[in-house]
Amino acid sequence: EDKAEVTPNEDIPRNVTSAKSDAESTVEILAKAHKRQKSDAAPQSTKPNRKPEQQVRPKNKQSAGPRHSQQIQNVPHHLQKKRDELQPVRKSLPIWPQADAIKAALKKSNILVLTGETGSGKSTQVPQFLMNEPWCTKCIAITQPRRVAAISLAHRVADEMGSFMGKSPAARVGYSVRFDNATGRDTKVKFLTEGMLLQEMLRDRTMSQYSAVVVDEVHERSVNVDLILGFLRNLVAGKTRTVPLKVVVMSATADVESLVKFFGNDQSSSNSEQTLNKLTDQDTSMVSTCYVEGRQYPVKTIYLPQPTQDWVESALKLVFQIHYKEPLPGDVLVFLTGQDTIEALEKLINEYAEGMDKEVPKLLALPLFAALPQHAQQRIFQPTPYRTRRVILATNIAETSVTVSGVRFVIDCGKSKMKQFRNRLGLESLLVKPISKSAAIQRRGRAGREAPGQCYRLYTEDGYKTMEERTIPEILRCDLSQAILTMKARGIDDVLNFPFLDQPPREALEKALLQLLHLQALTDTGSISEAGEKIAKFPLTPTLGRVLVEAATSERDCLLDVIDIISALSVENVFLNLVTEERKEEAEEARRELYRREGDHLTLLVTVKRYAQEQTDRKAWCERHFVSHRAMQNVMNIRKQLQQQCVQQKLLSKDDVPSGSAPSETRSQAILACILRGFVSNTARLMPDGSYKTLLGNQTVAIHPSSVLFGRKVEAIVFNEFVFTGKAWARGVSAVQLDWVSEVVESIM
Ligand code: CDP
Repeated sequence: EDKAEVTPNEDIPRNVTSAKSDAESTVEILAKAHKRQKSDAAPQSTKPNRKPEQQVRPKNKQSAGPRHSQQIQNVPHHLQKKRDELQPVRKSLPIWPQADAIKAALKKSNILVLTGETGSGKSTQVPQFLMNEPWCTKCIAITQPRRVAAISLAHRVADEMGSFMGKSPAARVGYSVRFDNATGRDTKVKFLTEGMLLQEMLRDRTMSQYSAVVVDEVHERSVNVDLILGFLRNLVAGKTRTVPLKVVVMSATADVESLVKFFGNDQSSSNSEQTLNKLTDQDTSMVSTCYVEGRQYPVKTIYLPQPTQDWVESALKLVFQIHYKEPLPGDVLVFLTGQDTIEALEKLINEYAEGMDKEVPKLLALPLFAALPQHAQQRIFQPTPYRTRRVILATNIAETSVTVSGVRFVIDCGKSKMKQFRNRLGLESLLVKPISKSAAIQRRGRAGREAPGQCYRLYTEDGYKTMEERTIPEILRCDLSQAILTMKARGIDDVLNFPFLDQPPREALEKALLQLLHLQALTDTGSISEAGEKIAKFPLTPTLGRVLVEAATSERDCLLDVIDIISALSVENVFLNLVTEERKEEAEEARRELYRREGDHLTLLVTVKRYAQEQTDRKAWCERHFVSHRAMQNVMNIRKQLQQQCVQQKLLSKDDVPSGSAPSETRSQAILACILRGFVSNTARLMPDGSYKTLLGNQTVAIHPSSVLFGRKVEAIVFNEFVFTGKAWARGVSAVQLDWVSEVVESIM
């Protein structure tokens, strides 16, 4: 019954009230943290502050006035030319006439809620409007939910300002995304992913290097944005800064009223639940609002007469139908669910396009998804070649976050991949789910930005009517352990009373707190542990962070190897997915030298090591081994970044270099012990009937066919994730000894 506290079955919670009251008291303690412990932790968390402040403070003081004018005189010719060319484009944006109103609003109040259609110029213009305001002596941060958007916006704004972008000393614009920091001494406008801003908030609680924070795309309501809003609300109300921080909250479709309510009181006691409830009748004068009317031409909506399961097929037909019927110009934007469906459609379009008559204009398929390498993403922003129709194959990235010009036709599959926390399993997975009406409307709108357009919905009108009105905020449906660890690391003692824009279910908060306790990221009095402090500083889930920190202990001493494995786990599919049986067998043969009998983790390790060692032709090596070269390039980049971060956190010394050889037996065991420490919830034991059952939760799982252990029987396994296709699969699997697993599981009960 104790297990019910850890991973309750869906049908249990209602009738375990007695067990629950126990859990409740544990959770209350964890949630609140001991005051005494907190002050113990404080000196630790201030330590890493030193470095960024040293770098930034003095620079910023100088850079306020003179540097700007100096900058303008020294603009190199090619940058100046670009800037001048873009000036009329900027002036024609719907937001341009509102520049003065926006500046005035922020003179009057510290918070501005700004709404306006996608493409009206919010992300690119607002930082430029604000950067020369007298109060803006330091940097402006603009957050983005996705790295693609952060990077491309930084390039665009640099072009518009006639500035360099990135690390160079003269660059006024930069970006910071996970594993890639392109900011320099003089960065004044900085685009960051939400995760990176949260990380900065941990290092510098008062955000002393910023004069303003612009939170963009709030309507997407990622967990990170909700945390940022909560932190900013406390920061703006608090007395910790000498000059006020200006906050702009922007979106295409925000629920302005709830944001105004959220920010609109002087929350002197923001930690009390009553304050939150009273917000409705508070004075809202400290929040201004502004609405930018966008340009929107009419868009005709066409539904399918019958529902379909095969969106790729339907989309393919429509692309060619549009191409043959409709005159140029007019690009097509297809919304799909992810990299797999995008690549499948891309391949089909290219195959069919080859067979087109010479007189028919060309078709150019361009994929757009978050994991795509930067240079491939940039192709979206290049002009359309002569006599060509572009077909952009995108995830919901193109819904509001990235503006693609030239689009007249939208094809919407009506689905997207969403993070979903499965209560019964106590686990999070990515599921393909129907989008909401508001997302469908956004998608349709992409067809009418420059001229009247058409939107083909790959679902029926009745299907549309059954969609939810709005997308449910992520915080209400995802695993909260990373969010809570971030809060604890930021000194929020009482996480149950944090000002959330939408309060997550108590059950989810409880589960996350217990998960963090199991990972020993929290102490049993609810304060953040030393390991927890370290974990919070890595851009990794608490689970992977735990594995990393465990590997750095003197007992395990296998950090470099574990970094290699984590890097490989952080990209999608190192090993190419092969379709035909013949190719599968070929690949099996070619990869044999990489396979390790211990399982997928060590197989990944050997793959990374071999690839890293390959000096002559890495691409050819990948082809020979049916390994994705693109994925491996990403792995190497992440590996380098993680190594550097470990050096910064003093877990590694600069002189440590990864060894090229495969790990010894003892080392392999040490590595698996680290993995087990993090993934203790993902363990299963062999049952007499040959199936596997999870130790926590008693769920039947099977080893995924992609695993090197597929079809093998070992006494216990540890795995990275659950995948549901027909049944529950364990993916990313290693064999471990049952008594180890039992030992770790017992230690957390
Ligand atoms: O933030 P919002 O969606 O309101 O607009 P924006 O991102 O500031 O984009 C304004 C305009 O800048 C777009 O219509 C694009 O034409 C252009 N833009 C661009 O060309 N390249 C980018 N990376 C971003 C924007």
